[in-house]
Amino acid sequence: MKKIIITIDGWSSTGKSTLAKQLAKALKYLYVDSGAMYRAITLYFLRNHVDWTDKQDVKKALKQINIEFQTNAKTHTSDVYLNGENVEYVIRDMVVAEKVSEVAAIREVREFAVAQQKRMGEPKGIIMDGRDIGTVVFPHAELKIFMTADSSVRVERRFKEMFDKNPNITIEEVKANLEMRDYIDSHREVSPLRPAKNSISLDNTNLTQKEQFQKAMEWADKKITGT
Ligand code: DC
Repeated sequence: MKKIIITIDGWSSTGKSTLAKQLAKALKYLYVDSGAMYRAITLYFLRNHVDWTDKQDVKKALKQINIEFQTNAKTHTSDVYLNGENVEYVIRDMVVAEKVSEVAAIREVREFAVAQQKRMGEPKGIIMDGRDIGTVVFPHAELKIFMTADSSVRVERRFKEMFDKNPNITIEEVKANLEMRDYIDSHREVSPLRPAKNSISLDNTNLTQKEQFQKAMEWADKKITGT
């Protein structure tokens, strides 16, 4: 069967990774969370006190970073590894969330991540989610989805997710972080968040996970079978 590339971009907390994982499982495709790469780089910068306003420091640091994805036998999805350490859990921390958009706006950081993302897509049969996957990483992907949802719904979703890990977190903190990331991600000079040409918009404010999955599967089937 023909293998395609599916890109899922959109605003923070619109459920991109949930949909990407469902599609990857159903189609037996590789799922890559590109945001995890930017989060892992941010974690490295924070731990190693990299001054990311200094281009030379950034370039030097990137040479020390190796990012890999490995399948987790329990969850059956892929975990991100930073220099051999599984950082899938720690990169979701608020400390990283507060800085990741700043780091992801740096040209050198994006070039580093995008080069690796393009290599991962060469064999096709891949679903990647992020902010610039349909516009920059795979502009020729067969299926491009752009996800949106009302901001109050997104805040609520992210709050529930974060609260499980950190019961001290407040809804105001989560809202402020989401708004800040949306702003930086869509206003940066390099690869700002935009719907890609030929992308299909998916607003899931009033959709269940099952409903949105069914819609996306129909689109994917059409592209795979050419109907
Ligand atoms: O999807 P996420 O929330 O884990 O992404 C973390 C940050 O990384 C997000 O604020 C924007 C950035 N990002 C990006 O700039 N480009 C991507 N392809 C993926 C994520």
